[in-house]
Amino acid sequence: MPESVIVTSALPYANGEIHLGHIASTYLPADIFTRFSRLKGREAYHICASDDFGTPILIKAEKEGKKPEEYVAHWNRRDFEDFSALGISFDLFYRTSSPENVRFVQYVFEKLKRNGHIYEQDVVQFYCEYDDKFLPDRYVVGKCPFCGAENQYSDLCEKCGRVPDEILEPKCAICGRPPVKKKSTHYFFKLSNFSAKLKDWLVKNENLQPDVKNYVINWIDEGLQEWDITRDLSWGVPIPGTTGKAFYGWFDNHLCYISTMKKLIDEKGRDGKKFWNDSEIYHYIGKDIVYHHYLFLPAMRLGIDEEYKLPDYIPTRGHLMLQNQKISKSRNWYIGLRQFIEAFPPDYLRFYMASIVTYSQDDLNFDFDGFAERINNELIANVGNFVNRALSFTSKQFGGKVPAAGELDSDDKAAIEMIRASVRGVEELLSANQTDRALKKIMELSTHFNQYFQKKKPWSEKQMAGTTLYVSVNAARSLAILLEPFIPFSCEKIWAQLNLPGSVHGQSWDSAAELKVDAGHQLGAVEPIFRKIEAKEIEQQKTKLGVK
Ligand code: 2FM
Ligand code: ZN
Repeated sequence: MPESVIVTSALPYANGEIHLGHIASTYLPADIFTRFSRLKGREAYHICASDDFGTPILIKAEKEGKKPEEYVAHWNRRDFEDFSALGISFDLFYRTSSPENVRFVQYVFEKLKRNGHIYEQDVVQFYCEYDDKFLPDRYVVGKCPFCGAENQYSDLCEKCGRVPDEILEPKCAICGRPPVKKKSTHYFFKLSNFSAKLKDWLVKNENLQPDVKNYVINWIDEGLQEWDITRDLSWGVPIPGTTGKAFYGWFDNHLCYISTMKKLIDEKGRDGKKFWNDSEIYHYIGKDIVYHHYLFLPAMRLGIDEEYKLPDYIPTRGHLMLQNQKISKSRNWYIGLRQFIEAFPPDYLRFYMASIVTYSQDDLNFDFDGFAERINNELIANVGNFVNRALSFTSKQFGGKVPAAGELDSDDKAAIEMIRASVRGVEELLSANQTDRALKKIMELSTHFNQYFQKKKPWSEKQMAGTTLYVSVNAARSLAILLEPFIPFSCEKIWAQLNLPGSVHGQSWDSAAELKVDAGHQLGAVEPIFRKIEAKEIEQQKTKLGVK
């Protein structure tokens, strides 16, 4: 296993706020994995960027009377602030419109062209005479030629996940009128040149989820269509040698994974390209962008002679439903991340989401009652309760000085062994991206310690209290390390109460298996780590959303 790991999260479009749906499928699982990798002592980076280009963004900017540059800069800042408030720990949150990315995209294009993977062709394009605009991708809606679903975008059918060559019964998405057709010269990427290589890569890469792999292989077997990478648009990476033409956003955005990572490493005075190729690479995505990440992305890297290696993993997860209904910004059925963490601590969202997100394409459901229950009954009643009891008993009975252990009985030994086994077990699950199962295992450890504490009764069994508290304070330390990837803010608090040196984020994962808090160590001030969620808070949230 390479020492270094590069984690990318799908780039959010710079045209609207981050909502809970984004978090569940992509950013949180990626952040948990990165934090875990850092604790494991790997050189791990989590990078992302705002996806700045494209027609929808240009149109929205125009509507607000802003220059597109200004408009995307606003969302870039805002997204970064929101992610940071949730503890999504990006090493760099950059932008697809950066000079580094523009240069890199143009370089890739030229090389693909030299390698014979690009051709020119006149295309007849949709043009709305009423709006006086070429109507690329999202601005033409119609019927999907593959599955017949109505009202689909011309560049992606949300029903069957395929990218139509030509949409049926087209309409202008701005005014609803049928568009006319106009001629324009476009560049195409010969995706079909890569059918065999892509298939080979998919078959051989055992890290990719088998179910996703299978349907992507089906797409290849059905025959891949060449890909129009041109837009008659000013707001995009300019296509060298043309005027008024830019690359389609999906040609440039994933290249930003590479250009951003390269910038980060180059600026440290190291070789970013070498680093890329020496690292293990993870691209975290939601299932709506499988086509782009399993076909376009690897094909383009193959097309430049694998100058930059292909991903090792593409963790792909399902969509978040909100109270059992599909999230939709246009129907105003979503919860903005900022709004949510103004109402609840960020770790509550992280804990709940991490406990429901599976490593699969199954959709998950955000439910306010389920949320309150998980937080109150698991996070607080289990972890919060144990840690607080262990530390406050030590404070009250021993003046905050960790007592020395006496002779260990079989319960003490079993408890210590459980810490060791849990660290190994959780590590295995996190390495395999099984975030929810990993968290469950940590909860089992905490449950065990609640029972241990209850059984040992350090409040009445003064004789044994020293041993019990010594083992328990150490368990609290282990829990703080194990939970750091999930609830980093709360673990900082636990660490401060333990009064241990350094930051919990910089600890070694393996050390969580050991008892490192010595007898005689002085704890810090102890107080409850969490606050309960009240029924009326949940009522308020539901009322805001308009549900009972
Ligand atoms: O679907 C989206 O939201 C795109 N902005 C994701 C881009 S990911 C990429 F850059 F590959
Ligand atoms: Zn129109």
